Amino acid sequence: MFEIKRKTELAPDICRFEVDAPQIAKKRKPGQFVIIRVTDTGERVPLTIADSNTDEGTITIIAQGVGKTTKMLNMLDVGDSIHDVVGPLGSPTHIEDFGTAVIIGGGVGIAIAYPIAKGMKLAGNKVVSILGARDKSLMLLEDDVRAISDEVIVTTDDGSYGIHGFVTDALKGLIDAGRKIDVVVAIGPVVMMQAVAEMTRPHGIRTIVSLNPIMIDGTGMCGGCRVTVGGQIKFACVDGPEFDAHEVDFEDLKVRLSAFRKYEQDALERWGHECQLDGQEG
Ligand code: FAD
Ligand code: FES
Ligand code: MG
Repeated sequence: MFEIKRKTELAPDICRFEVDAPQIAKKRKPGQFVIIRVTDTGERVPLTIADSNTDEGTITIIAQGVGKTTKMLNMLDVGDSIHDVVGPLGSPTHIEDFGTAVIIGGGVGIAIAYPIAKGMKLAGNKVVSILGARDKSLMLLEDDVRAISDEVIVTTDDGSYGIHGFVTDALKGLIDAGRKIDVVVAIGPVVMMQAVAEMTRPHGIRTIVSLNPIMIDGTGMCGGCRVTVGGQIKFACVDGPEFDAHEVDFEDLKVRLSAFRKYEQDALERWGHECQLDGQEG
């Protein structure tokens, strides 16, 4: 059991948890994730290790409540425990002093991009962070990102904060201005990562994306997280989750991500119904 030491609601149904997991805190590197089960009968879901505190023995995870398991997690409080937390999993981000690194996070992808931006800064890069959200209320970790970036550009789809537009508009601005960019790391919705890949491709800018296929065991055994990269089958949990964006077959990823949508919606509806019944009985 892994006790929750701190909890903060960063945005509506997006929660940050500091969880007691000293072994993972000691070993983890930027780009790695854990697989959790909220209860002993629950499903396994991957969440990025956004940060760690080796003195306190805690790791930070940030979850957006999009379905049954992440909504159940976000209902837990300080003093509650997550049934199991396995990790650190995945290959760490390849971090070196590239020169100028543009780190792009869209939506909850900001939580996944943040540890990478921090690692890039520590390695000596000039870090330009681009953060995108649907609206101002969903803008995550802006202060944390500002603290480790040389420059931050904020965009919202509805124009309620920062530049009115998408993260790709901000990236286009940098490219059009002739800014030196040595590496781009883009993490967020698949369509966003695909759009970034197409924008950097003609300029030959090295671009890394973190893929989010469905994962079950996280150890390369089940095949659930199969992705096609450079025409080859890769398992995102062990070969990734980060890959060369210009080699990724995003269409294949979209199809695989939507494969279980009906079952996911049914599970959420059934759970919502059970919660309502519990409320009536109690
Ligand atoms: P469901 O209703 O079951 O599913 C909603 C959607 O989430 C699905 O359509 C599918 O696209 C995806 N999904 C469902 N089950 C899984 C699964 N077992 N593995 C992967 N995706 C799934 N989300 C965060 O909020 N914060 C993070 O830091 C974060 N890091 C991630 C790191 C990695 C390496 C990966 C692969 C995913 C990450 N995700 C993160 C996404 C998160 O795992 C899914 O949102 C979560 O599994 C949804 O589960 P659910 O039961 O709440 O929703
Ligand atoms: Fe099973 Fe990657 S999650 S092989
Ligand atoms: Mg689920």
